Amino acid sequence: MELDVRLARSEDAAELAELLNQVIARGGTTALEEPFTPEALDKAYLTGTDVICCFVAVDRLSGRLEGFQTLGRYPGLPEDIGDIGTFARVDGAQRGVGSALFAATRDEARKQGLAAINATIRADNTGGLAFYRRMGFTDHAVRAAVPLKSGALVDRISKRYLLNVSD
Ligand SMILES: CC(C)(COP(=O)(O)OP(=O)(O)OC[C@H]1O[C@@H](n2cnc3c(N)ncnc32)[C@H](O)[C@@H]1OP(=O)(O)O)[C@@H](O)C(=O)NCCC(=O)NCCS
Repeated sequence: MELDVRLARSEDAAELAELLNQVIARGGTTALEEPFTPEALDKAYLTGTDVICCFVAVDRLSGRLEGFQTLGRYPGLPEDIGDIGTFARVDGAQRGVGSALFAATRDEARKQGLAAINATIRADNTGGLAFYRRMGFTDHAVRAAVPLKSGALVDRISKRYLLNVSD
């Protein structure tokens, strides 16, 4: 699969909401539990005022959006630390979507003068943890026993990627 990476636009919201809602419906990875409307997704993750940048990965042949990665301001984080979220199609995981997106997000975050990127991941999301570790994130903090809708308690692991260190 050949991928092009470009900035997300509001017009991508319907396709990306469908993509994200499939990840949410499958369960077991993202901490998000409620489906998004295209409008809510656009505001929260694509082009809203708290979005630092958001990139999409597009299959060059079909034009299908294969994933997106959003970097935004998050309550409680310093101004110069962005919070990242990455989502690849449920039928497209481990095909290079996340890593292609991260190359773009990292460069843009540096350009915008951020000091670091934060990723907060469910402790039971082994794929997500492995992905961010592979991208160079290191463990920063653990918030113990955060409840899911079901009442199940799952730790949240925060990882950081420092942007002022050359790679
Ligand atoms: C996590 C996620 C974004 C990774 O995207 P992806 O396109 O599958 O990632 P890539 O193919 O670019 O993987 C890059 C590297 O990460 C690691 N990795 C990715 N997914 C992995 C998995 N499920 N298990 C183990 N390692 C994994 C691998 O080392 C991989 O490198 P390699 O293929 O050279 O071995 C994707 O699986 C996803 O959308 N998951 C559901 C949502 C989620 O959990 N997001 C993270 C929390 S916001």
